[in-house]
Amino acid sequence: MIYITGDTHGNIDNKKLNDINFPIQKTLTKNDYVIVVGDMGIVWDDNDQKNQDFYNFRNFTTLFIDGNHENFNKLYSFEEVDFKGGKAHKISDSIYHLKRGQVFNINNLKIFTLGGANSIDYMYRIPFKSWWPQELPSEKEYEEAFNNLEKHNYKVDIVLTHSAPYSYLPLINPLIKGNKLNKILDKIEKQLDYKAWFLGHYHKDIMLSNKIRVLYNDIISIDENLNIERYEGNRDE
Ligand SMILES: [Fe+2]
Repeated sequence: MIYITGDTHGNIDNKKLNDINFPIQKTLTKNDYVIVVGDMGIVWDDNDQKNQDFYNFRNFTTLFIDGNHENFNKLYSFEEVDFKGGKAHKISDSIYHLKRGQVFNINNLKIFTLGGANSIDYMYRIPFKSWWPQELPSEKEYEEAFNNLEKHNYKVDIVLTHSAPYSYLPLINPLIKGNKLNKILDKIEKQLDYKAWFLGHYHKDIMLSNKIRVLYNDIISIDENLNIERYEGNRDE
């Protein structure tokens, strides 16, 4: 089984995955996956071990794409490995960062990933301490994304991003201006044959279309037949 949820921000928003709120984990194994769609925040500073152990000791393997609140210099210093058809950074035996512009095959589902977003509060942040210019993808990463989509004939099952495609931004907040990444995601959305798209970043749980869903505290389950359901857990907050 695959579960997908929104931003966790280190230990600030990881309660949705604890034993109380996500009790089904008792029946899961390391062959099940929980994917966080960015702002994972467990590769950040000297307190990372504790935040990573929260996931190391759970009955699932944790995967995440990057958001904007990640320590990119530290994240990219982890070993790059081939993981289920794409490239990932191995954070531990059961935590992997899914790199940008990859197509993974997880539980027989083709999953395209393109993390990154811009921090609206960057002016209050310190470069390379609490803000990193790599928060938005490079030209090379876009190129890799388009090359990999071409290899898969622009057909995948699931899309995972942190940011939303440009056309859908007004549905989230009419004040959001949008950037190059939003526009590229728009281009991809128009060309790509996909079944469902999940994104984070905006700290809301809303649908942008019948296929595009913004996640924050909601957890979605997806089986190998692409049955998608909202997991009815608990909320202890
Ligand atoms: Fe966030």
